[in-house]
Amino acid sequence: MITARRTGAALGAEIQGVDLSKDIDDATFRQILDLWHEHEVVFFRDQKLTPAQHVAFSRRFGELELHVRKDCCRPGYHELFVVSNIVEDGKPIGSQDAGLFWHSDLCYLKIPSRGSLFYALEVPHDDSGKPLGDTLFASATAAYDALPAATRQTIAGLKAVQSYKKGYYRDRNGGRRKPLTPEQEAKTPDVEHPIARTHPVTGKKCLFVNEGYTARIAGMPGPDGDALLNDLITHSTKPEFVYRHSWRAGDFLLWDNCLVQHLAIHDYKLPLRRHMERTTLTGTAPF
Ligand code: SIN
Repeated sequence: MITARRTGAALGAEIQGVDLSKDIDDATFRQILDLWHEHEVVFFRDQKLTPAQHVAFSRRFGELELHVRKDCCRPGYHELFVVSNIVEDGKPIGSQDAGLFWHSDLCYLKIPSRGSLFYALEVPHDDSGKPLGDTLFASATAAYDALPAATRQTIAGLKAVQSYKKGYYRDRNGGRRKPLTPEQEAKTPDVEHPIARTHPVTGKKCLFVNEGYTARIAGMPGPDGDALLNDLITHSTKPEFVYRHSWRAGDFLLWDNCLVQHLAIHDYKLPLRRHMERTTLTGTAPF
């Protein structure tokens, strides 16, 4: 029997009683979908999945994205974006610095991602056995609901500019990334999305701004727009809206990219290894 145990934070639940490597019948899949929409982040412990099973389960939710950085995808699986600090034969096996600022996956596309399905293959631990490399998730619905009524009125109808380049080139402890190729640039022009976004299934209002990619408020150049955006971004990740997930190898976690934003904690380094793989669901135009 499938059961859900809340994390105790503003969002998040563990789903128990499902082996994702097996065929999932339609009724169970529907339950998983409903629990995901209700809790915004859901996770399954102790899963043993091949890359093909990860992709096949993800496809039950709909179409998958092929990441713009193909060099970071698992060889033979353009749908599997690898997030890892591991270097093999002198080459990183995936993205080494993904998620190190608050963001929502692919929010910088005209059609942002609906959600992401993240599988933990290797998790680093400190000397005492405590897991490192946690991920924080902030509820965009809790953040929206907690806004003062006047702010909700101010942002109704406003859009924000989401910029891949802002996230890509931001300072990474002094490190510089190699410039995007003209082809990558062409695939990621700045886009505008509603700040108060409506979830396409639940109808809930979400505060859709993040420190990583939200560059400015559309039509509000200058200090007033900057101050409003700063306030919204600071508000959006207040501790009371956040669930912190401590990973175990075998965790399979789903987050909804409209209902939450997330941040990876980089508190480990080689020889401690972290290896995660993500599929990313295609979404629908924000409104
Ligand atoms: C991501 O943003 O996709 C990476 C999250 C993580 O590494 O925990």
